[in-house]
Amino acid sequence: MTINRLRAIALGGPGLPAHESLLAEGWGLIAAAHADGVAYLRGTGAEHHIVALHDRPAHGIVSVDFAADDRSAVDALQRSLAARGVRVTAPAALTTPGGGYGFALHDPDGRRLRVLCDVARHADTADHDDHPRKLSHVVLNTPQMDVVKDFFCDVLGFKISDWSEDQMVFLRCNSDHHCVALNRLGHASLNHVAFEMRSIHAYMRGIGRMKAKGFATDWGPGRHGPGNNPFAYFALPTGFVFEFTAELQQVGPDHKPQVWQRVPHLSDLWGTAGPPTPAMRAAMAGRPDPNQA
Ligand SMILES: [Fe+2]
Repeated sequence: MTINRLRAIALGGPGLPAHESLLAEGWGLIAAAHADGVAYLRGTGAEHHIVALHDRPAHGIVSVDFAADDRSAVDALQRSLAARGVRVTAPAALTTPGGGYGFALHDPDGRRLRVLCDVARHADTADHDDHPRKLSHVVLNTPQMDVVKDFFCDVLGFKISDWSEDQMVFLRCNSDHHCVALNRLGHASLNHVAFEMRSIHAYMRGIGRMKAKGFATDWGPGRHGPGNNPFAYFALPTGFVFEFTAELQQVGPDHKPQVWQRVPHLSDLWGTAGPPTPAMRAAMAGRPDPNQA
């Protein structure tokens, strides 16, 4: 598989870079760079940044960034996408913080994805810490789940890990159960972004740090059936829903997708979370994505 991991998400919204302090002091991210009005934040892992905050007129995804091994892998994927009629840019060196080499493409919803290699990595990883290590997954709302699922699987090489009835599909590009999930909805938008904590202890410490900043969980703590990962969701003043998670299920090539029923004892394995509130559902529905790069 050419795409081998989820790297980062770039988000846009009115005044969004001003929320950097909440994401640093509460969420536990670390400032990595500032350039051209964009705030870049890293986790404790080696990725140069895992979140970028852009000032944009409307809330939405600026890009979802994935990694490929090297330039030849990037070039080969770009050529194959172009040959299939996918709208892609030419591979080029990036001049933004972290640098790298890659290209952008648009998925069937018009969402901007990027495939990059050679991005700078940090040597000072701090895996002992109780802060997000990396992005775990992004969940994308889509009005055409089957079309977008086929695009990720048949065109980009992802594999289906599981289904949540016919409402959600979980997709992987490595041994993590999912780094992308699609949720059927009437419009394309960002459902949420999940951040991996190194342990269940670090996950709870993250919840505690947010509580100390005045932010109670909006859904959770609880544990999902598909992926077997603990969850704690926060509808943040950024306008986006962020999640702390840990211990995501690891799967091998022999993993057989199953269809999970959306019933309480499978959706909420610990029985601690209950269903999301109407306000949480509305936050996860997000705003229709304006696809502003
Ligand atoms: Fe999640």
